[in-house]
Amino acid sequence: MRFAHKDLLGLEDLTRGEITAVLDTSEPFKEISERRIKKVPVLRGKTIVNLFYEPSTRTRVSFEFAEKRLSADTVNISTTMSSIAKGETLVDTARNLEAMRIDMVVIRHGASGAPRFLAERIPSNVINAGDGSHEHPTQGLLDLLTIRDFLGRIEGVRVVLVGDILHSRVARSNIWGLLKLGAEVGVCGPPSLIPPEIEGLGVRVYRHVEDAIAEADVLNVLRIQLERQKANLFPSLREYNRIFGISNARLSRAPRDILILHPGPMNRGVEIDSDVADGEHAVILDQVTNGVAVRMAVLYLLAGFDVTRAREAKEGLEFEPEAARGSAKGSGTPRPSRQPGPAGGAAEARAGERGRDTAAKGGDRGEVGSGAELEEART
Ligand code: CP
Repeated sequence: MRFAHKDLLGLEDLTRGEITAVLDTSEPFKEISERRIKKVPVLRGKTIVNLFYEPSTRTRVSFEFAEKRLSADTVNISTTMSSIAKGETLVDTARNLEAMRIDMVVIRHGASGAPRFLAERIPSNVINAGDGSHEHPTQGLLDLLTIRDFLGRIEGVRVVLVGDILHSRVARSNIWGLLKLGAEVGVCGPPSLIPPEIEGLGVRVYRHVEDAIAEADVLNVLRIQLERQKANLFPSLREYNRIFGISNARLSRAPRDILILHPGPMNRGVEIDSDVADGEHAVILDQVTNGVAVRMAVLYLLAGFDVTRAREAKEGLEFEPEAARGSAKGSGTPRPSRQPGPAGGAAEARAGERGRDTAAKGGDRGEVGSGAELEEART
């Protein structure tokens, strides 16, 4: 079975079976990172660009490790050390990279929709490494894998996301992934940080963190994203910690052991106390370890390799992908030609320009690839 997508833009786009296929494909890849020589040849000859418009430690480094452990050639591009700093648009940057014959782009961007915008315009596979407040699909996948590792299942598990749900792309990817795999999902945080429409997705809203702790099997504690907040949405970080902070004192009243996840980076003493972050129920570093295997699985599947052959790939066998590049069926994103058509040009460049500006101002619910700007770029 092949993965029927050109790109990975969000877990909203994937079926339950596809999410499970990524998790299952991750399993054999875990062992590669435990070897003395952490390398198999499966992506030999592939060229992958990591294009990061926002800071990152875990995602950028684990994508790079995943690429190198599968023997791909990789290039890292950051905003400060490239012509992006001179004002080059997202599309122009991507087209110039395409001209050097790349195969995949991993992109993090402050504007929601930037990866989709790119995926619709370049033939390379595009992987969303976090876009604005929209999605962070590989983070959602590694969170699912970690829950499955520790609890043995996801179906029926009660997971509560605690914190800044409004600005969190991690929350969105978790919610889509968990609901599709049959978990019971809740959110908890200040009302100003909970999107009003969230209950419509089948997500329970907890007003008090004590109620969430009383019912949850898993707490996924999210960072307070001060950089994405335009207004003061709660009185102070100290007040936030007092009302919603996850402490051992609060967890000690739980009727069962609770698995503690955090996507990082953590604000210790704000959303999570150090004694919890470093405590026996925290699996935060296991999440980071799983991130490499999940990203290896995503790269492998988007390259067109069969889900069922991941164990052969792990053993170092070399074989061709099932699909020739560009022939993935049923992809959510059409594969554009290498030759840019007449639809590109000024409007597209303008949309990219505004997206860059949005990202430079701190991103937020961003606009590249969504709404009017994209419509303008398409027409
Ligand atoms: N979890 C996560 O996205 O961390 P980074 O910002 O360090 O990549």
